[in-house]
Amino acid sequence: MEKMKSASSEKARNILVVYYSRTGSTRKVAEYITKQLGADMEMIIDMKKRSGAFGFITGAIDALKRKETEISGIKKDPSKYDLIIVGSPMWAGNMPPAIRTYLNKYKANIKSVAFFATSGGPSQGKIFEKVRSFLDRELISLMGICTKELNDDSIFEAKLSSFIESITQKK
Ligand SMILES: Cc1cc2nc3c(=O)[nH]c(=O)nc-3n(C[C@H](O)[C@H](O)[C@H](O)COP(=O)(O)O)c2cc1C
Repeated sequence: MEKMKSASSEKARNILVVYYSRTGSTRKVAEYITKQLGADMEMIIDMKKRSGAFGFITGAIDALKRKETEISGIKKDPSKYDLIIVGSPMWAGNMPPAIRTYLNKYKANIKSVAFFATSGGPSQGKIFEKVRSFLDRELISLMGICTKELNDDSIFEAKLSSFIESITQKK
């Protein structure tokens, strides 16, 4: 852990963690990474109502249809950062509209991207492939974490440490 902190501290100013979270899981991961790296953090807000059962269903449909949405909360210019770490829940195997909208708007100005996804089930392969092809570039690091792993402190820390280490090594 100490090694990781010292490796990251000199680079921390150039990293932005940007995330969307409907129910807090992706936020938990984003906050942990931000703290460990001493990075800046940005939360994307979806202006469309996504709460409740109706929000779940319309969210899944919008994600499947690859719809964009109106987003707010963006204060930081991603072009000012060497690396953007994007955090997203997986919706119907896809990016939620808020993440799609953010990436579409800023992808031309992003130098380097790492990506993590949270999900209910154990496999995030579908969203990884979609993000890769949407951005049309390789991502410097990828991590998927499911609800069960999010709620197990030792798995959570092990997964996050290895993701953070892969980022600090490659950046
Ligand atoms: C609209 C919607 C669709 C979802 N689709 C999937 C899915 O296809 N596969 C999966 O494993 N989890 C799916 N989930 C579960 C979320 O990915 C998971 O709970 C995630 O950690 C939530 O992150 P959040 O709390 O940051 O919003 C879905 C959740 C929502 C709201």
